[in-house]
Amino acid sequence: MSKSLVVAVCGATGAVGREMLTVLEQRNFPHSEIIAMASARSVGKKVPFMDRELTVVEMTEDSFEGVDLALFSAGGSTSEKFAPIAVKAGCVVVDNSSAWRMNDECPLVVPEVNPHDLDWHKGIIANPNCSTIQMMVALKPIHDEARIKRVVVSTYQAVSGTGQKAIEELENQVRRLMNGQPVVADVYPHQIAFNCLPHIDVFMDNGYTKEEMKMVNETIKIMGDPSIKVTATCVRVPVFYSHSESLNIETEVKLSANDVRALLAKAPGIIVEDYTEKNIYPMAINAAGEDATYVGRIREDETIENGINMWIVSDNIRKGAALNTVQIAETLIERDLVRVP
Ligand code: A2P
Repeated sequence: MSKSLVVAVCGATGAVGREMLTVLEQRNFPHSEIIAMASARSVGKKVPFMDRELTVVEMTEDSFEGVDLALFSAGGSTSEKFAPIAVKAGCVVVDNSSAWRMNDECPLVVPEVNPHDLDWHKGIIANPNCSTIQMMVALKPIHDEARIKRVVVSTYQAVSGTGQKAIEELENQVRRLMNGQPVVADVYPHQIAFNCLPHIDVFMDNGYTKEEMKMVNETIKIMGDPSIKVTATCVRVPVFYSHSESLNIETEVKLSANDVRALLAKAPGIIVEDYTEKNIYPMAINAAGEDATYVGRIREDETIENGINMWIVSDNIRKGAALNTVQIAETLIERDLVRVP
């Protein structure tokens, strides 16, 4: 990591953007300058970084001259507009929105799984969906060992995945309900406090939500294996940070629960927490603020020949977004790829 980089955080006032700044600081990311960008609404606002505050500037078409690396988390339409402009100015973009994920010109990367895909980037690298990232970290070692045929996943996703406004909506609804007051739902179509919504992103013609189809399609692209079948049900739950997922995995080769524990215990980015005799298993409240993907409740599916059930939890804002984005940036530096080819 020799070159000192000018780095822009685009969407620096949002839930993920703020966490990106924290992660850059915590990992001592090499930089000569960090620029905090957001919309015109936020110009002049201050965001904390290291021992100082950064003054937010507006992201415009002229913002990217002299910027080496831009980490975007400012929504899909913003990214669709500004990422190509940034690349034209010679800046490499790592984008956290869904805008570029399925574009054939853009690698979709989880550094523990497919760092080699960075080698063919053309300027824009996509960060996968938060629920997909943690699932990939846990599935990759199993796929390498026993070839995964099918995965049935149900998610329990935190409101922070929707952004800062959703965090505030859950807080407000809880406060109002505890005071006997009626609640208003603005961000979600229904009350989220003390409730579960089987509805993340928009519904599609096939009856699935877009979030569910992201898990299906992104898995194939990241693993580079179109034969893996994934079916998903994505649920928003009244949790602030960390997504939990129940996975049912069918493999070609038989693995015992102990085989899976041993495999995952030595895999990068994973901590196995599976001591049911002591009531120890991954929980959202423990994963929040942490980097790892936690795996527990590992057991054989007794209804099929080669099946494993497990429960995985990871902080959706860190590994699911900000951390994975920064890890992509670090891997670009390691592979000397911080340049537009
Ligand atoms: P702003 O705060 O100025 O609206 P979240 O996902 O938590 O809602 O955050 C979204 C982030 O994306 C915020 O930093 C927001 O800035 C930023 N953003 C949204 N629209 C634009 C835009 N058109 N140009 C630049 N930044 C944007």
